[in-house]
Amino acid sequence: NGIGHAFLIGEKFIQNSNVCLILGDNIFHGQGLYEKLIKATARKIGATIYGYQVNDPERYGIVEFNDDNNKILSLEEKPKEPKSNFAITGIYFYDNNVIKYAKETTPSKRGELEITDINIKYLNNGNLNLERFGRGFAWLDTGTHDSLMDASHYIQTIEHRQGLKVACIEEIAYRNNWISKNELIKIANNTGKNDYGQYLIDISREL
Ligand code: G1P
Repeated sequence: NGIGHAFLIGEKFIQNSNVCLILGDNIFHGQGLYEKLIKATARKIGATIYGYQVNDPERYGIVEFNDDNNKILSLEEKPKEPKSNFAITGIYFYDNNVIKYAKETTPSKRGELEITDINIKYLNNGNLNLERFGRGFAWLDTGTHDSLMDASHYIQTIEHRQGLKVACIEEIAYRNNWISKNELIKIANNTGKNDYGQYLIDISREL
């Protein structure tokens, strides 16, 4: 019933916490992403959303800025006449009010609880923070077969060039000391004889 419905389905899971929502068909990649996300988690009150310049603003939630480009004037979901090219991406951080706001939201013309309507509530309360993903940052969609192929090629190109994997969860867990070297090796062995398993083994052998 729309992205906003996630907060009704997830209410018991969220309990009294702040919460991050990521759309499953969105891929984010670029220098400084980690720092931007940590900054958002440090904000205990309000919401943080992320803007990205796109060619086809009619397809997204769109931000309208003031003349100095530093204040949000409005948010519109898939406007026929977009007031900017700045789309709202599919990663959102909210304080716990999001559950209340989701409950107050009514379905749009397309029958969905719009995440943009929830963001408008934060905007009206003066509690909406917008960060930007700039040039050189990749925000990719994988919602169609073609766009999934494009995203795969993008990731493959970077991984081959650097010999480093993008968002390898086992690597991330190991480097953050969330799993031990033995656990990493065990996962690698279960992964089987392929590049991914070998990558994990190589990491476990690093000094
Ligand atoms: C949804 C949101 C839209 C946002 C987009 C990002 O669109 O409604 O505001 O810009 O995700 O991917 P939908 O996937 O429902 O078309």
